[in-house]
Amino acid sequence: MSSTEERLKDLRNRKARSEAGGGQARVDSQHNRGKMTARERMELLLDEGSFQEMDSLVEHRCKDFGMDKNIIPGDGVVTGHGTINGREVFAFAQDFTVYGGSLGEMHGLKICKVLDMALKTGRPVIGMNDSGGARIQEGVASLGSYAEIFFRNVRSSGVIPQISVIMGPCAGGAVYSPAITDFVIMVDQTAHMFITGPEVIKTVTNEEVSFEDLGGAMTHGSKSGVSHFTAGNDEEAIHLARELTDLFPQNNMEKPPIRKTSDPKDRKCEKLDTIIPDETNKPYDVIDVINEILDDGAFLEVQADWAKNIVIGFGHLGGNTVGVVANQPKFLAGCLDIDASDKAARFVRFCDSFNIPILTLEDVPGFLPGTSQEWGGIIRHGAKLLYAYAEATVPLLTVILRKAYGGAYDVMSSKHIRGDYNVAWPNAELAVMGAEGAVEIIHRRRIANSRNAEEERTRLTEDFNEKFANPYKAASLGYLDDVIEPSETRSKLIRSLEMLMDKEELRPARKHGNIPL
Ligand code: HXC
Repeated sequence: MSSTEERLKDLRNRKARSEAGGGQARVDSQHNRGKMTARERMELLLDEGSFQEMDSLVEHRCKDFGMDKNIIPGDGVVTGHGTINGREVFAFAQDFTVYGGSLGEMHGLKICKVLDMALKTGRPVIGMNDSGGARIQEGVASLGSYAEIFFRNVRSSGVIPQISVIMGPCAGGAVYSPAITDFVIMVDQTAHMFITGPEVIKTVTNEEVSFEDLGGAMTHGSKSGVSHFTAGNDEEAIHLARELTDLFPQNNMEKPPIRKTSDPKDRKCEKLDTIIPDETNKPYDVIDVINEILDDGAFLEVQADWAKNIVIGFGHLGGNTVGVVANQPKFLAGCLDIDASDKAARFVRFCDSFNIPILTLEDVPGFLPGTSQEWGGIIRHGAKLLYAYAEATVPLLTVILRKAYGGAYDVMSSKHIRGDYNVAWPNAELAVMGAEGAVEIIHRRRIANSRNAEEERTRLTEDFNEKFANPYKAASLGYLDDVIEPSETRSKLIRSLEMLMDKEELRPARKHGNIPL
C-alpha cells in the first residue's frame, strides 16, 4: 500500500497529464493561430477562481488504430461549472490539442453530463467548439455520442439558455448542436462551420470555394443567418457570451435579472418628435429610435449583418430586459421578406421561452413582392413570424412609428394577435395598402373615364391619404390603445411594462403546435 504522500503525488500527476492536453507543441501551435487553449477559454469565461472541473480523468476506450497507446485523460474536452457575475452556469470547451478536439464516445458523454446537470439544476450552458468533428477512429460510437448531445440540446431548448461559441472548425453533422442552441457566436477568421468542406464540394459540384468564404464568421453572419454574432477574437467572443448570459434568466421558470440604471423612467425623448422624415418614403435609421428609448441608449443587436430590413436585439426598459424587433426603413424600405421573417420569428420564440417582454417598433410597407420571394416560400416563412407572435404570452408592447400596411400590420404584434399595449405616433399610417396602389385598384374605372386621368388620380390619392394615412380610425376601433407623442414613448412603455410584469396568459393544452417550419 502506498503512502498518502504517494497517492497524492499520483493524483497530481494524473491531473497534470490531463491539464497538459496534447502537449506544449500543440499548445504553441494553437497560440500561434491566435487561438486560446480550452482551459484558458474556460478561465476567461467564468468568474476568477469559480471554475470547478468535472471528468478530467475520463479516458477514451478505443483500441483501434493504436488508440490504446495514446490516451490523454480528459479526452479532448474540458467540462464543468462556474459563475458569470455570480450566477452559476455550466460550460464545456473542446481542446483542439487533443486529437484535434475530435468528438469520440467519452468526449461526447462528458458534454452530455454537463447538459444533464445544467437541465437538472436549471442553469445556462455555454459550449466552446473547436473540433475536427466525429473522431474517425471511434466510428459509429462518435456518431452515437453526437446524437446524444443533439437530443439533449433539443430537450433543453426553451428550458435553459444555450449558447455556442465557435472558435475553430465545426464540420459535418457537428454543426447541428450549435444550430439548435439559442445563440451562435463565431470568431472571425478562425471559426468555420459547414456540412461538407471545400474539397467535397469541389468533387461533387465542381465549385471552388475557400474555407472562409464557405463557412467563415462573415458568411454565416451575413449570408446564411446561422451565426448571431461575429467576434474579432477569442476574448471578444467570450466577453459576448458573458454579456448575453447576464441578460437572461437562468431558466424558463425565472424572470430575467433586473439591471440597475440611473436613466430616469420618465425621461422625455425629444429627439423622437422629429426623427421621422415628413416624406413618407424617406428612410431613417430605426436604431436611433431604439437607442433613444432604451435605458442608457444601450442596445445589443443580434444578427446585425443578416436580413438588415429587420432589427432584433436586447436592451433594458426601466431595468427590465426586453427583446426589440424593429422594421428598418434603411433596407428594403423595412419590408418583411423570407429572411427577415425567419430572423424575427426565432427571436420572438427565444424571448417568449425565457420570459423576456417584446417591444415591437413598426414601420412596414408590407411583404416584399417578387417571384423569388413567392417561390422561396414567403407564405410559409411569413407565417412563422405570425405564429411566433400569436403564440407569445410575454408582455407585448407595440409602437407604430409610421407605416403599418396590409398583412404586415396584423403580423407585427397587432392587438388582434394579442398585443398588450399597442400605440402609434401621430404620423402613423394604417391601411390595407399604400394610397397609390389602393387608388389604382378601387378607382381604376373612374380614373380611366375621367377627362383628366392624372388630376383625378392625384385627387383620389390625396383623398385616400386623408382618410387612411393616420392612426385615428384604428384608435377609434380600440385597435390602438392610444396615439402618443413620440417624446413620451419611453415613459409610456415603461409604465405599461410595469403594469404587465405579472401578466399571466395560458394557451390551450396540447402536445405542441405545428409551426409552419
Ligand atoms: C480524429 C482528428 C480529426 C478527426 C483532426 N484530427 N480531425 N482526429 N478524428 N475527425 C487530428 C489530426 O489527425 C491531427 O492529429 C490533429 O487532429 C490536428 O489536425 P490537423 O489536420 O493537423 O489540423 P489542421 O491542419 O488545423 O486541420 C484541422 C481540420 C482537419 C480542418 C479539422 O484536421 C480536418 O479536416 N479534419 C477532419 C475533419 C472531418 O472531416 N471530420 C469529420 C466531419 S463529419 P495529430 O496527432 O497529427 O496532431 C462529422 C460527422 C459528425 O463530424 C456527425 C454528427 C452526426
